[in-house]
Amino acid sequence: MIMIELKNVEKQFTVSRNEKVHILHEISLGIKKNQCICIEGPSGSGKTTLLSILGGLYGPTSGSASVDGVKISRLPELFLTRYRREKVGFIYQHYNLLENLTVLQNICLPLVPLGIHPNEQKRRAKRLLDRFQLSHRQEYQVSSISGGEQQRTAIARALINDPPIVIGDEPTAHLDAELSHDLFFHLSTLKAEGKTIILASHDPFVLNHPLVDVRYRMEGGRLSQDS
Ligand SMILES: Nc1ncnc2c1ncn2[C@@H]1O[C@H](COP(=O)(O)OP(=O)(O)OP(=O)(O)O)[C@@H](O)[C@H]1O
Ligand SMILES: [Mg+2]
Repeated sequence: MIMIELKNVEKQFTVSRNEKVHILHEISLGIKKNQCICIEGPSGSGKTTLLSILGGLYGPTSGSASVDGVKISRLPELFLTRYRREKVGFIYQHYNLLENLTVLQNICLPLVPLGIHPNEQKRRAKRLLDRFQLSHRQEYQVSSISGGEQQRTAIARALINDPPIVIGDEPTAHLDAELSHDLFFHLSTLKAEGKTIILASHDPFVLNHPLVDVRYRMEGGRLSQDS
C-alpha cells in the first residue's frame, strides 16, 4: 500500500522581486510503507528540496503530497508542523545540531514543543543514548564531540519522537567506511521495526546497499526510477 504519494509536484523559489527559480518539475512518486528508497543525482538537482517537501518543511508550489491519505501539501502551517513533529525524523545534510547545547539537549529538542516533562524526555533519550553509544558523551557540548558522534546524535534526535518516516539527506557524507556500515546497521534495525526510510545520496555504498528497495535518479529537477 502506498504510504507517501506525490503527484505532479512543482517547486519554485522566489529569489528576488522579479526572479523565480523552478527547481522541481512534474514529480510523481509513490512510496510504500516500510520501503527504503534512495534518490541519487548531481549536486543542485533538487534532492534536498524534494526531501524537504516529503518532510513537511515546506509545501510544493503546485501538485500534491499525501501521507497516509492526508494531503500535507494543503495543510495549514499548524498541522504541517504537527505532521513534521509526529511523523518525520529528519537527518539533515549538515546535521543542524545546536553546537552550544549538549548531546542530551540536542536529542531532546524535538520533544520540547510537545510539552513532555523533562524527566520523561530524559527517560526516552537514555534508550537512544545507549543504542547509539553516546551515554558517555551526553553532557558534552556538540562542538566538542567527533564527527561520528555528531552523526549519531543527529540520528538519535531524528528518532526521539519515534516517527514512522525517517529521512536521511546524504547521511554518509561525513562518515568513513566503518561509520557508514554502522549507520546502515541502525537503518536496518529501523526498517525491521517497520519504518519507511527515504535517503538522498551520491555515495555508491548507499545506492548499492541491499537495504535500498527502490532507486531514483534526480536530474535537473526531474525524477526517474532507476532500473
Ligand atoms: N530556498 C531556496 N531559494 C532559492 N533557491 C533554492 C532554495 N533552496 C534550494 N535552492 C536551489 O535549488 C537547487 C536545488 O537545491 P537542492 O539543495 O535541492 O539540491 P541537491 O540535489 O540537494 O544538491 P546537493 O547534492 O549539493 O545537496 C539549487 O540550485 C539551489 O540553489
Ligand atoms: Mg542536498
